[in-house]
Amino acid sequence: MGDLLLNKIQNKIKITSKIKNYEVIFENNFDKILKNFPTDSVLIIDKNLKKKLEKKIRKKKFKILYIIASEKIKSFEKIDEIIKKLIKISVNKTTTVVAIGGGTIQDLVAFISSIFFRGIDWIFVPTTLLSQCDSCIGGKTSINFYGIKNQLGNFYPPNRIFVNFNFLKDISNRDLKAGLGEMSHFYFVSGNSDFLIFDRYLKEALNRRQDVIKKIIKRSLSIKKKFIEKDEFDKKERILLNYGHSFGHAIEKITNFKIPHGIAVANGMNIANFTSFKMNYISKNQFNKMNDTLDRLLGSDKLKKFKTDELIKALKKDKKNLKGSIRLILTKGLGKMFVKNIKNPNKLRDILIDYQNTLRRK
Ligand SMILES: NC(=O)c1ccc[n+]([C@@H]2O[C@H](COP(=O)([O-])OP(=O)(O)OC[C@H]3O[C@@H](n4cnc5c(N)ncnc54)[C@H](O)[C@@H]3O)[C@@H](O)[C@H]2O)c1
Repeated sequence: MGDLLLNKIQNKIKITSKIKNYEVIFENNFDKILKNFPTDSVLIIDKNLKKKLEKKIRKKKFKILYIIASEKIKSFEKIDEIIKKLIKISVNKTTTVVAIGGGTIQDLVAFISSIFFRGIDWIFVPTTLLSQCDSCIGGKTSINFYGIKNQLGNFYPPNRIFVNFNFLKDISNRDLKAGLGEMSHFYFVSGNSDFLIFDRYLKEALNRRQDVIKKIIKRSLSIKKKFIEKDEFDKKERILLNYGHSFGHAIEKITNFKIPHGIAVANGMNIANFTSFKMNYISKNQFNKMNDTLDRLLGSDKLKKFKTDELIKALKKDKKNLKGSIRLILTKGLGKMFVKNIKNPNKLRDILIDYQNTLRRK
């Protein structure tokens, strides 16, 4: 069953969108990818990739901006700086911007492309595991605001996405883990068959087995495709993909973004599962089964201690909250995630303290 699901995927994934249809093209030859960029494109590239790409790109005479990637670039200050640079190099309405980098470069460039001349074309070449398995599709753009994660943004998908798996050879172990952490939430939300696939291939993925990573990336995108095509603007089914994210974003905030997004999300999933267990939505066995997989994924990055009140405070500021309550995605089992509005944070505070005590006892 597992391999059947993994092998079904083609070399192209088409996404139907109310904004514009677009596609993900899997292409491992970077020179071939370059041929798809219009001659007057401006390339905005993660500075970490400069050495690797400079020679190849130089032949093409594109205008290039290099950016040091980090969560901090998702800011108004950086938007201001980049837009000034784009104006200086005479970007016009017909210019295509090409983003080459991970999720932070994507969120920044997508947002800028959406507001520049009320929207210019952009292409994305995701270069981290997280951006290849998740963020490259779905069309969300996000900027952090006064420390609140992804507070501002809109929907503005790229015209095309080129996934080149060779980029993944150089990502750090932490970013590999972060990518797998982010990826895991699709497999848990999808249901038991997909969870078992993820569980089975996790060890090989952590050991950088390229053939395995390629397959699980494609499956991950296929799961996300189903959700975003049904509910592109996050009103119904897609909300469930926020599983692990409310806690995850709060963890990022209280650690001043020192914990990578995907690692925060995987920890957030475990806390959401524990909360579900304590609220009697799942049994201890169900919690343990998921906890075991997340343990193997997170290893020493499992967050065992945090400032509970700060976490609650950050949760209260989450953009998904409605009318003063904290909106969480909890679970009644694999594939059975649901929205739960928590009106009384004291109960949640007790659960979070219990969570940390339980981990400390282990
Ligand atoms: N728009 C969306 O739908 C969406 C979805 C999920 C996550 N996100 C956002 O994505 C961001 C996280 O993305 P990320 O994990 O890609 O982080 P990132 O862009 O900061 O990249 C992580 C690190 O990897 C480096 N890097 C990039 N490509 C590399 C390569 N090929 N080899 C070696 N190093 C490389 C970067 O320089 C950086 O140091 C978060 O801000 C998150 O909120 C957005």
